[in-house]
Amino acid sequence: MTRRPVIIDCDPGVDDAIALILALRSPELDIQAIVTVAGNVPLALTQRNARQICELMDRWDVPVYGGCPRPLVRSLVTAEAVHGTTGLNGITLPEPTLPLQERHGVSYLIEALQNASAPITLATLGPLTNIAAAIIQCPQILDSVAEIVMMGGAVTRGNITPVAEFNLYVDPHAGRVVFETGVPITMLSLDVTHQVLTTPERLAQLRAVGTDLSQVAVDLLTPYGVSDRETLGLADAPLHDPCVIAYLLQPDLFTTYGAEVTVETDSPLTLGQTVVNPRRAKALTHPVQVADTVDAAGIYQLLQDRLAMRL
Ligand code: BDR
Ligand code: CA
Repeated sequence: MTRRPVIIDCDPGVDDAIALILALRSPELDIQAIVTVAGNVPLALTQRNARQICELMDRWDVPVYGGCPRPLVRSLVTAEAVHGTTGLNGITLPEPTLPLQERHGVSYLIEALQNASAPITLATLGPLTNIAAAIIQCPQILDSVAEIVMMGGAVTRGNITPVAEFNLYVDPHAGRVVFETGVPITMLSLDVTHQVLTTPERLAQLRAVGTDLSQVAVDLLTPYGVSDRETLGLADAPLHDPCVIAYLLQPDLFTTYGAEVTVETDSPLTLGQTVVNPRRAKALTHPVQVADTVDAAGIYQLLQDRLAMRL
């Protein structure tokens, strides 16, 4: 099997944690590193949470880096109301012994891409601060990026504001840097992740897997989404970040269309809004592939299968 080289940039976060569990159970992916960023909770917690998940998965081989502790321009906005004060609401894991890599996550990204023998896919699950900082410092690294598959953006409605999705709202300037590169990007926005809901039936299916790991997933997903139900009126909790990993494993679970995507960085009213313009797609070498529809049952089946997998 040819394993796809991937670097995961994330801010765990409950749904990031489920995404990491899915990725770390996927032999198709050659996970070169996990780089963490401030987002759902401050960096001191996102890097700790990523190391805890690696240990839980017995993946001592995956190095974890700490990246930027704040967005490029704005002050950090966090989401404890969604993810709890630790970022991993619902579970308590032992203090990690897997060390945090000494090198800064941004310098790791630059060196890894500069020395890559084959293009690397960047799977981004949080604010794009680390990726933008690496691009600003060393634009040549883009030659080694196979593509960026991101959870971020909103075509029709936001979650943190009426028009902005959390990851792009937290660091809209970083988002702008990344979208302006012209590198191939697949954007999994709220319009698809809000279709991937953790219904009681799906939660019961995960519980029925009956492994320690499936119980961890259930414990994470049970309290998750209460605030989205209250503030957005969603029926159940959306499984945002695992969609990125699912896309890497089974892109046919999604449909996409090409568009130009720009990020609002000036207006206080619409800060972080992703403006998606399919009419500009033909003018671009690499229009952003914006996900449109998703086979939600297929995503949960994939997660269920990987939780059941004995390695
Ligand atoms: C995104 O924001 C975070 O709260 C989630 O982890 C996800 O990456 C959804 O808007
Ligand atoms: Ca995230």
